[in-house]
Amino acid sequence: ISLQPYNTFGIDVTASHYAAVTSIPQLKELLHDNTLPLFILGGGSNMLLTKDIEALVLHIQLKGISILKTTNDHVWVEAQAGENWHEFVVWCLEKDFGGIENLSLIPGNIGTAPIQNIGAYGVELKDVFDHCKAVNINTLEEHTFTLEDCRFGYRDSIFKNSEKGNFIITSVILKLTKNNHELHTKYGAIADELSKKEIKSPTIQQVSQAVISIRKSKLPDPKELGNSGSFFKNPVIPITQFKQLQIRYPSIPSYSISDELTKVPAGWLIEQCGFKGKRFGDAGIHQHQALVLVNYGKASGEEIWEVAKKIQKEVAKTFGISIQAEVNVY
Ligand code: EPU
Repeated sequence: ISLQPYNTFGIDVTASHYAAVTSIPQLKELLHDNTLPLFILGGGSNMLLTKDIEALVLHIQLKGISILKTTNDHVWVEAQAGENWHEFVVWCLEKDFGGIENLSLIPGNIGTAPIQNIGAYGVELKDVFDHCKAVNINTLEEHTFTLEDCRFGYRDSIFKNSEKGNFIITSVILKLTKNNHELHTKYGAIADELSKKEIKSPTIQQVSQAVISIRKSKLPDPKELGNSGSFFKNPVIPITQFKQLQIRYPSIPSYSISDELTKVPAGWLIEQCGFKGKRFGDAGIHQHQALVLVNYGKASGEEIWEVAKKIQKEVAKTFGISIQAEVNVY
């Protein structure tokens, strides 16, 4: 079958075998009987497919949201892996559960959120994560990963490292606030958006609206223009190297990380190299956010990957910084 409807880049490759997974017993049965390589598909929003997939594609469609426990101030909510992330955020906002409003409109599903520790506007999944449940692909046993187990980092977790390919995440449990919401509105763009609307003490719903406005102004809607959000991670470099760059580029932006390290927005580096808004056939760089690669129509995954490599090469040549893909490339 064609995977075009199932990846937000809209790349037309085929899968040799495909199964939609709607229950855990069915998942275990599929794993038990399978002899092929596996390819786990969630929302398809963080991948670039460059070739046909010769594997059993397991499309995780486990559904359901439930409240596990409440105290005066907190609520623990479990969402199944196949729930859409943003629809879950909206569900929480309707109930006035706080903590993920800054993560509004992030594409993808619940089950893939922990893998790359999704984050935006000063909040990361790890800030609200309690635990997740997963099935071991080899033993079929169900396993729980606590916050500590997951070893979350910037766009990173154990599922991208030592446990890569070993588990299928089936649900995620978040600890959210019921009242006394802790707002994260310091991020420049959010503060600007709220002051534009003259909102002084925003609700979580208003913070969500601000995030949605910002994202809509910068990030292309995958339904209109194929993309996978930020294509690269923002590189972390030694402050000594950053100071050297500042001499040549006084306006170079950065987010401080520690006494030794700083993070530089890859979008800025790419824009400086002249790529913003450029198009190579149907593959290109978004006009409002240079960190986002887009498929203007019928680009193949290979064509997009070629553009990505061109960008990596130019950024390395100009700044001496190596930028790494954030999306998974197959
Ligand atoms: N910038 C440019 N030109 C560009 C893009 C960015 O100069 O074309 C510079 C500007 O200085 C801007 C700064 O980069 O102020 C930061 O840009 P932005 O706020 O758009 O954030 P980002 O660092 O490019 C990261 C995440 C996004 C997340 C935003 C907001 C990564 C890889 N990306 O992007 O996440 O929404 O911060 O928090 O960390 C994603 O992961 O798919 C994603 C969209």
